[in-house]
Amino acid sequence: MDKIIVEGGRPLKGEVVISGAKNAALPILVSSLLTEGWNTFTDVPELMDIESIKLLLSNLGSRIETEGHTVRIDSSGLNNPEAPYDLVRKMRASILVLGPLVARLKKARVSLPGGCAIGARPINLHLKGLASLGASIELKHGYVEAFADRLKGAEIYFDVATVTGTENLMMAAALADGVSVLRNAAREPEVVALADVLNQMGADIQGAGTAVITIKGVSSLQPVSTAIISDRIEAGTFMVAAVLTQGDVTLVNCNPDHLEATIHKLRLAGADINIKGKAVNVTGGNEIVSTDVQTQPYPGFPTDMQAQFMVLMSVANGTSLISETIFENRFIHVSELRRMGADITISGNTAMVKGVPYLSGAPVMATDLRASASLVLAGLAARGTTRINRVYHLDRGYQAIEKKFAQLGAAIKRIRE
Ligand code: EPU
Repeated sequence: MDKIIVEGGRPLKGEVVISGAKNAALPILVSSLLTEGWNTFTDVPELMDIESIKLLLSNLGSRIETEGHTVRIDSSGLNNPEAPYDLVRKMRASILVLGPLVARLKKARVSLPGGCAIGARPINLHLKGLASLGASIELKHGYVEAFADRLKGAEIYFDVATVTGTENLMMAAALADGVSVLRNAAREPEVVALADVLNQMGADIQGAGTAVITIKGVSSLQPVSTAIISDRIEAGTFMVAAVLTQGDVTLVNCNPDHLEATIHKLRLAGADINIKGKAVNVTGGNEIVSTDVQTQPYPGFPTDMQAQFMVLMSVANGTSLISETIFENRFIHVSELRRMGADITISGNTAMVKGVPYLSGAPVMATDLRASASLVLAGLAARGTTRINRVYHLDRGYQAIEKKFAQLGAAIKRIRE
């Protein structure tokens, strides 16, 4: 497996172009299942997770053409209702095909995703919602089997706001008979992006971005041509890198409206952040100020930025408390950061981070995407050499991360193996 080697201690300077959002692209590519004819999606990031979803869609019968960041999908030939274990195991977001398959083919057989490195990650709310829309659901041999002659609009209340759960049911309800209301829906920008694309396809969805989404079912949807929104988590990761290295970085193609909590906390931590439309300049001050964060569903501080923010706090001027409220096991990075000299103690879902003067480079690895990104950040700030193993996880969600950092002046390279 490839490795990334970083020599720390160089301030990052220059411009970085933020790619399309992984977590918006995944459901939007899947939404092509609801249409017949060629859809064109632009600004699709080049990532392993995007390759995984394309493989799954072509397995289901879609035709796919890719040219750079443009992906064209025609799902007229959709004929296979099964998402097999080997494809779902690689990427949990594969569960997003469940709703669209039942809506289009009246049946679906999708492998249960199982747990992952950051937590148990159940899909009970996806299943409960689909059952409310009239699907009969059985769990057999590790698969979800769902059938419905015609889905029917229903009131669905989510016990917990779930991003992919909201997206799955929004897609299913778009082709159901009658009106569905999703209550305590996720409000993430990626949910709004999907609703916008579905409406462009001819769906009637109102309220996306609020906790109540109303969907009037329609009989069919038409293909579209549309661009993917920019990735707020990639943007946040580069913002932290700028502050951590006392650098001066301008993010291009960034949507600061999606980053309010992250920008707020970075300012409290001493960053100077200037916004001009879609360009955001971030400069680090002389001192990193310890700042507490608690992860929350959007518009709160994102769980996908928790590991990166913790690296920043590990070299701050005091003690900060970082609480993870979304996933029960999302502190995988802590033991690796400790090996680099960080002083972090975990108690329940809270990490107490006592800032140290500097981190020391070390060989590290992580079993989760954002944890791996945090180790690259730690390497950029550390004294000496950091070797990040299992780059596979980074490639799932960050497009050419080492090239983007190298363009900003980091001493970073990939060793191919
Ligand atoms: N939950 C349930 N039952 C369900 C679904 C979720 O209890 O049926 C719980 C989860 O266990 C968790 C909470 O609800 O405690 C929120 O999870 P959610 O369903 O929102 O997570 P997700 O949809 O599986 C997406 C992102 C994640 C991101 C989370 C939270 C995609 C493809 N994935 O996951 O992104 O961390 O929302 O914002 O959109 C990443 O990109 O690295 C990543 C993990």
